[in-house]
Amino acid sequence: MTLFVAVTLICLLPCLHASLPVMETVNLTGIHDWGNRFEGMLVFPIVEDVYGWEVTVHFNYPVILQRNAETTINRISADNRTYVLVNKLSDGSKHNHTTTSMTIIGRYNRLTSDPPIAATAALVNLIHDGQVTPSTPPAVASEKYNYAEVLEKSILFYEAQRSGKLPSTNRIPWRGDSALTDHGQNGEDLSGGWYDAGDHLKFGFPLAGSVSMLAWGLIEFKDAYAATGQLDNMYDCIRWPLEWLMKAHTGRNELYVQVGDGDLDHHFWGRPEDMTMARPSYKITEDKPGSDVAAEYAAAMASGYIAFKDKEPAFAAKLLTHAREIYAFALEYNGTYSKSLPQSAAQFYGSSDYDDEMCWGGAWLYLATGEDKYLTHSKNYNHPGTSWGQSWGNKDIGCKVLLHNVTGEDRYAADITGTFTNWMPGGNVPYLNSGLALRNEWGSLRHTANMAFIALVAAENGLNSAEYRAWAKSQIHIALGDTGRSFVVGFGVNPPSHPHHRSSSCPMMPAPCSQEALSRSGSNPHTLYGGLVGGPSREGSYKDNRQDYQQNEVACDYNAGFQSAVADTCLYLHIKLSGCTL
Ligand SMILES: *[C@@H]1O[C@H](CO)[C@@H](O)[C@H](O)[C@H]1NC(C)=O
Ligand SMILES: *[C@@H]1O[C@H](CO)[C@@H](O)[C@H](O)[C@H]1NC(C)=O
Ligand SMILES: *[C@@H]1O[C@H](CO)[C@@H](O)[C@H](O)[C@H]1NC(C)=O
Ligand SMILES: *[C@@H]1O[C@H](CO)[C@@H](O)[C@H](O)[C@H]1NC(C)=O
Ligand SMILES: *[C@@H]1O[C@H](CO)[C@@H](O)[C@H](O)[C@H]1NC(C)=O
Repeated sequence: MTLFVAVTLICLLPCLHASLPVMETVNLTGIHDWGNRFEGMLVFPIVEDVYGWEVTVHFNYPVILQRNAETTINRISADNRTYVLVNKLSDGSKHNHTTTSMTIIGRYNRLTSDPPIAATAALVNLIHDGQVTPSTPPAVASEKYNYAEVLEKSILFYEAQRSGKLPSTNRIPWRGDSALTDHGQNGEDLSGGWYDAGDHLKFGFPLAGSVSMLAWGLIEFKDAYAATGQLDNMYDCIRWPLEWLMKAHTGRNELYVQVGDGDLDHHFWGRPEDMTMARPSYKITEDKPGSDVAAEYAAAMASGYIAFKDKEPAFAAKLLTHAREIYAFALEYNGTYSKSLPQSAAQFYGSSDYDDEMCWGGAWLYLATGEDKYLTHSKNYNHPGTSWGQSWGNKDIGCKVLLHNVTGEDRYAADITGTFTNWMPGGNVPYLNSGLALRNEWGSLRHTANMAFIALVAAENGLNSAEYRAWAKSQIHIALGDTGRSFVVGFGVNPPSHPHHRSSSCPMMPAPCSQEALSRSGSNPHTLYGGLVGGPSREGSYKDNRQDYQQNEVACDYNAGFQSAVADTCLYLHIKLSGCTL
């Protein structure tokens, strides 16, 4: 029998799981009681599949329990009457229709006239996390997919990626404080920010690139966030990494661009809350410059400034000050961070040149300040011609769209339409039978979703609007379910349930978690709502396999262009508030 009651004895202790259901409550049985020592058994019928478990035992006397073979003692109440025992790593999985038992041995003191020892014990299955399924906002009747729900869930995905000290408003019950001691080479506080993907590295380059794309979506399609009730959540969403980007700027010409070591991090499968490996940090300086990453930080902060300037002028002004300084650093000390820091992010998010970021950062600073010098820099770094696409490492097309917007010049329009000629059917970007444009098979959907967003902004600016909107919608709809399955965790029909994502693959704390959580066959215990997975391979195949980090990982940069595309009011309301039609 599953009892969905809050057991008050649990709350004698720090109340970690007050909301988790108790699977079974039993009494201590087979008791031998010597007045100062006792032995007994706890036998639990298992009535559902268990992954990670906790037993709270409440005695009628203060006791001193011995360790047993099955569990470790996790916590003890101040009066020694209540013990919380947690499964050992080797013993976390239990199948329905079995029983699990353990011997309980302890010492205590009573007079012979006192009643004998007794105990009740409640088992909590830590596969549960108490996370409430987000309430689904009302869909627009004429729409195939509920865009409001996608926006809400995508923002929740970013919340699950938070590193550092979580605020009391945290909505992800299976996440706690983590990596609180992340620091710079002189002890500067570098806690906070987002974990990059399914791992726990903090990579400034893609992080800042994600923030720029999200801020752009907020600036461009603010109506949609407001109409779907997500505006405040969205501000919180990008404020979190923006604060970290400012922390990372530890000196005028000094910028931290990574925390954590790739190899050490990737050898650990578990929760960020449990990490113990060294987390070195890496910075660019005058001697080790990185105009690519610096200009991207400047872009994120300048677009963040625009997003926040009316809402929180003081915060926005701080962002702009940092953005100006960092862009000046990028200009004066030019170089690529891959060359300057070859042992770090270069292996994961390498960059071969910085012109695209200098163009992009300059354009955002021009939009933020109106100062011509930034427009001049932006134009100077632009390379005429068509683009590969928009990604964490390539902002060429994004910059062209901004330059077209601010100058109205035909040369930018020509490069943008030329790029989309390549991307549309009949161009040089291959298509799957499903109709998905597949630029690159490592995270295929994010590249396409980024371009869907770029197409929607180009459409706003009057370039082939009907065609670009229809194309963007067709691509986003494939991610949302047009092939018969959703590629967004916790959304739509047959969504991925085994994303390559460490923290959601673990049972609830305090159950131990390790490599076994990667290889086990069951769904991730926690639903990582809103995470867009990598997506189909070059052959069009896809497997919901946790081990596959090309097709089934999630990442901050995967969701950024995707979320901004979904936020287009043309998609959401079908007919834009101010009159655009599909
Ligand atoms: C546990 O013991 C109490 C007190 O003797 C009894 O009322 C209760 O029914 C027992 N519960 C179970 C599950 O055996
Ligand atoms: C576990 O087994 C019980 C009894 O057969 C059944 O009612 C229940 O649905 C099963 N639960 C799960 C989660 O499989
Ligand atoms: C609880 O047990 C510890 C030893 O394990 C002992 O030091 C402490 O005094 C006990 N407290 C109570 C209230 O019994
Ligand atoms: C830095 O910029 C100067 C002037 O534009 C250029 O000559 C030089 O090649 C650049 N250095 C690097 C490493 O890109
Ligand atoms: C620039 O972007 C703004 C905001 O989307 C839009 O209102 C304006 O029409 C655009 N201008 C051009 C020339 O594209």
